[in-house]
Amino acid sequence: MANLSVNIGSTTFKNPIFVASGTFGYGTENPELVDISKLGAIVTKSITLNPREGNPPPRIVETSSGMINSIGLANIGVEKYISNMLPVYEEMDTPIIMNIAGSSMTEYMDIMKKVEAVSSSIVGYEINISCPNVKEGGMEFGVDCAMTEKLTGKLRKLTDRLLIMKLSPNVTDIAAIATSSENGGANAVSAINTVVGMSINHRSRFSDIYTTFGGLSGPAIKPVGLACVHKVYNAVNIPIIGIGGIVNSTDVIEYFLAGSCSVQVGTANFRNPGITEIILNELNNYLDEKGIDSISSLIGSVKTHD
Ligand code: SIN
Repeated sequence: MANLSVNIGSTTFKNPIFVASGTFGYGTENPELVDISKLGAIVTKSITLNPREGNPPPRIVETSSGMINSIGLANIGVEKYISNMLPVYEEMDTPIIMNIAGSSMTEYMDIMKKVEAVSSSIVGYEINISCPNVKEGGMEFGVDCAMTEKLTGKLRKLTDRLLIMKLSPNVTDIAAIATSSENGGANAVSAINTVVGMSINHRSRFSDIYTTFGGLSGPAIKPVGLACVHKVYNAVNIPIIGIGGIVNSTDVIEYFLAGSCSVQVGTANFRNPGITEIILNELNNYLDEKGIDSISSLIGSVKTHD
């Protein structure tokens, strides 16, 4: 059987199939639907300093080969995450990556300080600088190189755990934002968050989403994700976690060829919460059939015509 383990910073993950933030709750909701011990890692829903109700409904709509969401970072807040979730993670043998979102640099830092002040088994943080669905913060940081580098640097000083910046595709130059993350001391970047989108009901003439715009995800954005990952791969030396429209093992291979060292499965979990186990089995079979000893050997090995 091929070696599926991957390294990010000094952490080794048993396989490269992670579940994406916002598509798997806090990692404990689906025990009878998926064997979470088989996952490479769980990235939990974005946590803010205070609990949030999120945006008014409708906040999810299905679109061609994808979906649009505008959840607005609904979450339990950091205090409840610490008291209710961290003890549960101690009992789990699946690595947990905590996703953090904030409306100011101070908020991101305060959340991390609170989590770092208690004992926990989480392996790292994914920093959401790319949420398109909130008025303050979120994407505001991820579209600006100087802010990205400053925030990354400030968070770097607060933790020795993995620090992963989650990048937005809704920028002019994603490679520049990735470089700023690397310069600030990030161990890795994840790419991509959702693509700004809109859906309209031609009968009612209403926007399908309350906030008018939302974030498009699913197979519709896979080509965007691949392009972003490859641009980032050509620009930085830190690992890239590929995200965007992954539904099967072929998609995983393509993300590795583009430059990813692991992937996150997102929207596909809504259709089948057990999809990651299927992808993992397919991936093992694919690598065995092709005689590939280690999945890491594929990273960035796409052939281009130039
Ligand atoms: C949301 O909660 O609105 C989605 C989070 C994100 O896209 O980062």
